[in-house]
Amino acid sequence: MATVIRRLQERDSVEGFDCGDERLNTYLKKHAWNNQQKSSIGVTYVAVEEIAPAAVIGYCTLAMSSVPRNAMPRKSVRGLPAYDLPMILLARLAVHRHFARRGLGHALLSEALKLSLRISEQVGCRCILVDAYPTAVAWYQRYGFTPIEGSKGGSVRMYLDMRTVKAASGSLGTE
Ligand SMILES: CC(C)(COP(=O)(O)OP(=O)(O)OC[C@H]1O[C@@H](n2cnc3c(N)ncnc32)[C@H](O)[C@@H]1OP(=O)(O)O)[C@@H](O)C(=O)NCCC(=O)NCCS
Repeated sequence: MATVIRRLQERDSVEGFDCGDERLNTYLKKHAWNNQQKSSIGVTYVAVEEIAPAAVIGYCTLAMSSVPRNAMPRKSVRGLPAYDLPMILLARLAVHRHFARRGLGHALLSEALKLSLRISEQVGCRCILVDAYPTAVAWYQRYGFTPIEGSKGGSVRMYLDMRTVKAASGSLGTE
């Protein structure tokens, strides 16, 4: 399956997208384009097959964020000033269920990490954050994301230090 990951375009076909989670389906169908194009609060990257280049089979959305220093584990902020820390938020990530378990989630996450690394070389940002569904925590842990204690609201806030991403950048194909 040859796939391409690129920015969401207005003409992309999103109506058939179904990752099994209504909130993530609705975000792609109703909000992703407006948030990217009109509101500038999130940029969505979509996975498409080369043979059907407009039909979205997976996506992720990135935004900027910040976190109070004292919300982070002490060992990860040692030596840093008492400012809110700049972060990149992996705000959404989902794969169409017909294409699950074929490496598409891995490809989308790798792209998100590569983009984050590039951004962190231009604009200060310490970590990448994700508010993971409890069912997806183990999946993110495979990539080194660590839960932040005291997460609330049904999801589990997790972080990955940008220095860890940089150290692994060879395996992301950025070097
Ligand atoms: C979680 C999700 C993004 C994974 O995408 P995917 O394309 O199926 O994953 P990949 O093919 O890259 O990875 C497959 C591997 O991850 C494992 N895996 C898949 N989902 C998992 C989960 N929820 N928890 C733990 N491991 C998981 C598979 O067993 C497989 O392991 P293997 O490589 O040892 O065989 C996808 O299942 C999805 O969209 N789920 C619904 C939406 C969701 O939960 N998104 C995350 C919101 S925070």
